[in-house]
Amino acid sequence: MLGVWLEEPGGPWTLREVADRKVLPGGVLVDVLAVRVPSYTRDVLTGELGYDLPTPLVPGPTCIGRVRDVADDVFGVAVGEVVLCNSLYSSGEVLGSPDEILIGWTGTGSDRSARMQQRWRHGSFAERACYPAACVTPLPGAEEWARPELLPFLASLAIADGGLRRGGLRGGQCVVVNGATGNLGGAGVLAALARGAARVVATGRRQEALAALRQLDPRVRVVPLSGDRLLDRDAIHAETDAGADLVLDVIAHTPTTDPTLACIDALRLRGTAVLVGGVRHEIALPYQRIQRQQLTITGSFMFDSTTALQVWQLVRAGALDLSPVRAHTFGLDEFDAAMDAAASLSGLDYAVLLPRP
Ligand SMILES: NC(=O)c1ccc[n+]([C@@H]2O[C@H](COP(=O)([O-])OP(=O)(O)OC[C@H]3O[C@@H](n4cnc5c(N)ncnc54)[C@H](OP(=O)(O)O)[C@@H]3O)[C@@H](O)[C@H]2O)c1
Repeated sequence: MLGVWLEEPGGPWTLREVADRKVLPGGVLVDVLAVRVPSYTRDVLTGELGYDLPTPLVPGPTCIGRVRDVADDVFGVAVGEVVLCNSLYSSGEVLGSPDEILIGWTGTGSDRSARMQQRWRHGSFAERACYPAACVTPLPGAEEWARPELLPFLASLAIADGGLRRGGLRGGQCVVVNGATGNLGGAGVLAALARGAARVVATGRRQEALAALRQLDPRVRVVPLSGDRLLDRDAIHAETDAGADLVLDVIAHTPTTDPTLACIDALRLRGTAVLVGGVRHEIALPYQRIQRQQLTITGSFMFDSTTALQVWQLVRAGALDLSPVRAHTFGLDEFDAAMDAAASLSGLDYAVLLPRP
């Protein structure tokens, strides 16, 4: 089968014939139908982001697949079903701290993580992939879905929606989505609207992407980020109704933590900030304000099957409208072009690899 092959972090990567995948015990083999190419994919492969890639490997994150084979000890998935294959794989300990790897993407650096990566090494930038059954969520009715190239957006929706759920979003609340002009951010805005937010304040730098978000719904207000904490705090606060109930922070790595802190500054009494983005700095939290205003600062990472299924059900029922999402599609032989496009696209425009012609 054809796949992208990365010999070592930093590259080079090539499209070539790679050993065909076979179903592993406890696993599900899929024909890869569509994979979102994240904006920072080139930086992952070049080693710029320091991801723990178990080279040599076929890289690639969460994907949509059609089940081709199922191990004889797997009972919840059937051949022919369209499924979401979550790259998040956990060692699943009840006690202690589990290791969580992203199959085909990164690990934690521990010995156990390395053993998990050894077993479940390869990702989705190929014609076929094999995932542990625990990572696979069937999407009922997706076989007849008219636009399969939109299905990988479910992963972004599930990550964003998992963050909103972690923050306890209730209908009628005011949500700030920080980094709304990015892929997770666009998904966060759509998910918050679908979950009944009374107001969604979308922040970002790209004016065009902000304008597109404003067109989505009268409940969406936009704030261009200046990078100045106080200015941004005031601008965000002015678009809320006396402060935000919930901040969903999905911003990429930024030179300072000021955009995130500006959003935390705009929380109201007992508000919650959920950190989901790619910021790698330490963050200096306002101790007194968190104490007096009884704020909650928490994190959210990836998503579980329940969340994936819930967002699919919202989409399928028409409660979450995917029509504003634009998929820019590429074949495996256009992998480099897909990475370039991914780096320049924003918000509800995203790059999708369709490995099978
Ligand atoms: N927690 C999780 O489970 C999880 C899962 C996947 C990804 N992530 C992380 O989430 C982050 C976002 O992912 P994505 O796919 O949405 O990326 P993306 O599409 O590239 O979006 C990045 C966002 O960050 C903003 N941004 C970038 N540099 C900035 C700067 N210097 N100042 C202010 N804003 C800046 C962008 O604003 P403009 O476009 O307007 O410039 C955009 O809104 C990534 O860094 C990734 O590591 C987390």
